[in-house]
Amino acid sequence: MANKKAAVQDVVTPWEVVATSASGIDYEKLLKGEHYADCEKINEELIERIEDITGKPAHHFLKRGIVISHSMMHHILDLYQEGKPFYLYTGRGPSSKSLHVGHLVPFQFTKWLQDTFDVPLVIQLTDDEKYLWKDIPTPEAAINLSRKNAKDIIAFGFDEKKTFIFSNFEYMCPPFYKNICRIEKLVTNEEVMNKFGISKRDSIGKTSFPAIQAAPSFSSSFPGIFRDSEDMACLIPCALDQHIFFEVTKETSRFMKVKEPALIHTTFLPALGGAIKKMSASDASTAIFLNDGEHEIEEKIHKIQDVKVQGNDTVSSEMGPVYGKSLEADIPYQLAKFFVEDETEWNGIKQAYEEENLSSMELKNKLILILKKTIREIQEKRENVTDDIVTKYMSPRLLTYK
Ligand code: TRP
Repeated sequence: MANKKAAVQDVVTPWEVVATSASGIDYEKLLKGEHYADCEKINEELIERIEDITGKPAHHFLKRGIVISHSMMHHILDLYQEGKPFYLYTGRGPSSKSLHVGHLVPFQFTKWLQDTFDVPLVIQLTDDEKYLWKDIPTPEAAINLSRKNAKDIIAFGFDEKKTFIFSNFEYMCPPFYKNICRIEKLVTNEEVMNKFGISKRDSIGKTSFPAIQAAPSFSSSFPGIFRDSEDMACLIPCALDQHIFFEVTKETSRFMKVKEPALIHTTFLPALGGAIKKMSASDASTAIFLNDGEHEIEEKIHKIQDVKVQGNDTVSSEMGPVYGKSLEADIPYQLAKFFVEDETEWNGIKQAYEEENLSSMELKNKLILILKKTIREIQEKRENVTDDIVTKYMSPRLLTYK
């Protein structure tokens, strides 16, 4: 049944993202779906407001539609203007030793939010989730992955004084657990099974997990970490597939009489094998990892199939130029859109490529240089992240912020 459904419509769940078309997920359609009812697309007006009140240029992900939608962002901006605090909450499921460039997207954007708004940030490492879902033999092995991933995350440059990274296994404490139980009491098995596609034969760990991802949306899970932990507003930057956790969170917050979290969503970085899938650690040959060597990066980019000769139902099979939709299926072009930061440089590449003054080979070569540079910078920073530094970020302590 599930497979049949996958063939006719895009599948977007926290554990699976598969599109029906080579152009990738149809975001317009997705956002009109029932789970995104209280979300809006980001428009020019919102971007201008952000620039106006922060006095800083918007991140290129916002300008290029890579950060695509939100819920209650205007409310967060109101608070900012009134000088009232809010915090950021994001996370990562540590399923592999190293992050890949797809993970850069929400984390780079989160860093930009932290720097721009000068706010505290909590990062949840769901080692319990990965222990429950994946073939990880012990909680200790999952904790080990958490600490390795924390190094990568720290290398993105999050401010130590304002950032608390926590492993669920290690941080679980009475205030956090009380919130988890409050949420668990409000959500039925039926709701979780339907919304998250969990079956009767799955472990009970899976049905209760959504409460654990929901609880950090409530600041009372962090006493001694936030000055204003009573009921501080929360903004969650996350990829669109995670939204469903927070749809449930929003519902429970209304019953718990605590603040409903706001959200801001990123789209998916396509896999090197085609935009039908998002980049994923479980398919190593179609992902670029932050610990890949320069040679591997080159090889992987050169192997990407050229859309113009690939020919399938969404891309014209004629040899002539195939613009419009096909650019969405063009992986090097898509990767450049994510990773060429400078606006003028990106506009130049875009125009030259569309007008065929830049060949696919030339674009790939540019992309290789950009990816090598981005990854080298992170690798260099990561080398300086010692175990002691990881311990600091992961120790519960009072965060300082404006
Ligand atoms: N479940 C997420 C993952 O597998 C990790 C996560 C936990 C998360 N809390 C979050 C992601 C909050 C975004 C926002 O990667």
